[in-house]
Amino acid sequence: MSTAPLAGTSPWIRIADARDHLGETVEVRGWVTHHRSSGKVQFLVLRDGSGAMQCVAGLKDVSAEDWDAAARLTQESSVIVRGTLRADARSPGGVEMGLQAVEIVALAEPYPISPKEHGTDFLMDHRHLWLRSARQQAILRIRAEVVKAFRDFMDREDFLLVDSPIFTPSACEGTSTLFETTYFDQKVYLTQSGQLYQEAAALAFGRTYCFGPAFRAEKSKTRRHLTEFWMMEPEWAFATLDDVIALQERLLVYTVGRVLESRAEQLRSLERDTTKLEKVKAPFARIHYNEAVDRLRAAGLSFEWGNDLGGTDETVLSGQFETPLFVTNYPAAVKAFYMEPDPADERLSLSCDCLAPEGYGEIIGGGQRMASLELLNRRIAEHGLPQEAFEWYKDLRRYGSAPHAGFGIGVERTLAWIAGLDHVRETIPFPRMLYRLHP
Ligand code: 4AD
Ligand code: MG
Repeated sequence: MSTAPLAGTSPWIRIADARDHLGETVEVRGWVTHHRSSGKVQFLVLRDGSGAMQCVAGLKDVSAEDWDAAARLTQESSVIVRGTLRADARSPGGVEMGLQAVEIVALAEPYPISPKEHGTDFLMDHRHLWLRSARQQAILRIRAEVVKAFRDFMDREDFLLVDSPIFTPSACEGTSTLFETTYFDQKVYLTQSGQLYQEAAALAFGRTYCFGPAFRAEKSKTRRHLTEFWMMEPEWAFATLDDVIALQERLLVYTVGRVLESRAEQLRSLERDTTKLEKVKAPFARIHYNEAVDRLRAAGLSFEWGNDLGGTDETVLSGQFETPLFVTNYPAAVKAFYMEPDPADERLSLSCDCLAPEGYGEIIGGGQRMASLELLNRRIAEHGLPQEAFEWYKDLRRYGSAPHAGFGIGVERTLAWIAGLDHVRETIPFPRMLYRLHP
C-alpha cells in the first residue's frame, strides 16, 4: 500500500499545456467533473481551471488502493493524478491521460449543481460554485481579456493610469444614486464615477485614465443595471468631443478584435455569432440627438423631444445599425452638471453615448467638459449640489483651464454585448443588484 504523497513525483502541468507534453508522464491537480466506470476501466474528466481532460484508468494500470480511491470520487472532489499523456480526440482538449496514480485531496459532499437544468435564482444563490461551470469560465475569461484590451489600448495611446478614489465627498452623476456610508464622524459616498478626479489628473498629465469599481444605488431591475460595476474612464486635455468619439471607436475596434483573436474558443462555447462582431469596423454610425428623436418617431414610438433615451429607445436605435452607434448632443437637462453646452443650440450639450449593436444599448457615456467657471457655478446650484464640495474642481477652471473631454466605458455592458449575453448578472464574478447582495 503506497502512503507517500503523489504531489511532486512528476512535473505538475496545467491541462491547457497538455499538448506540449504528449508522451510524457506528468501530474495534474484539479477537480472531478464526471466519473464513470465500466467495471474494468474508470473514466474521469478533470477540470483544473485551465481546461478539462479525460483520464482513463485500467484495473491493472493503478494500484488496488488507487483504483478504490478513483471509484469513490464524487463530482467536484479534488484530486492529484499522475499519468502519461496521449492524443485522443474523445478527450475535451484532445489529450487524454492514461492514469498511473490517483490521490484524493478532498472528497466532495453531494454537489448541489448537477448537469440538470437549474433556475437562475438557484444558480445565483450558488454563484460561488456556479463559477466552476464551463459557461461561467468562458465568460470570465473573456472578461479578463476585455479588461486587458482596455488597459493595453490606453497604454498604447499614451494615456497614464491614475487611480481615482472610491470614498468621495460629493456626487458626480447626480445625487439620486449615491450609496452613503460613514467615514469616522463624517458622511461620505461610494464613488459613482472617477471622472472629476480624472479631470484633475488630465490637467496634470495631459492624458489619463482610471479603471475601477463604481457604485450606483439604482432601483432599476433591468438586464443592464448593477449597483456595483467596473468602469474605465479616460480623460484628455485639449481634446474635443470629436477627439474622444474617435478614441472610443479605436478602443472598441481594438477590444473586439482582441477578443475575436484570443478568445475564439470561449466565444464558440457560448455559441456567439461572431459574424456580427466582425462588422465592428470604423467608421461607426453617428447621429445627432435630433435625428434619434426622428428615428424613434418613425419607428412608431411616441418620444418627446427633450427626454433622455430609455432602454427601449436605445434598443430600437442600436438595432438599426450593424456597428456601434454614437448618439451626440443630448439635451443638457438630462445629463450631468459638467457637460459643455452646444454652441449651436444652448439647450443641448457636447455629449455622446455609444450604443452597442444588436439592441444592447448604451455601453459608453462621455463628452466635453464645461470650461466656464461662471456657468459651472450656475449648474452646480441648479443641480442642488453643495458649492463648497466642488471648490477643488472649480480650481481646475481657475488655474490653467483648458478644453478637455473624456468618457466612461462599463466593463459589464461591453462584455454582455461582446459575449452575446442577455443579462449583465453573468458578466461579473459576484453581481450586486437591487435584490442581490449574496454570496
Ligand atoms: O453614462 P455614465 O453614467 O457616465 C459617467 O459615469 C461619466 N462620469 C463617465 C465619464 O465621462 N468619465 O456611465 C458610463 C458607463 C455606462 O455607459 C455603462 O456602460 C456603465 O458606465 N454603467 C453601468 N453599468 C452597469 N450597471 C449600471 N448601473 C451602470 N451605470 C453605468
Ligand atoms: Mg450614461
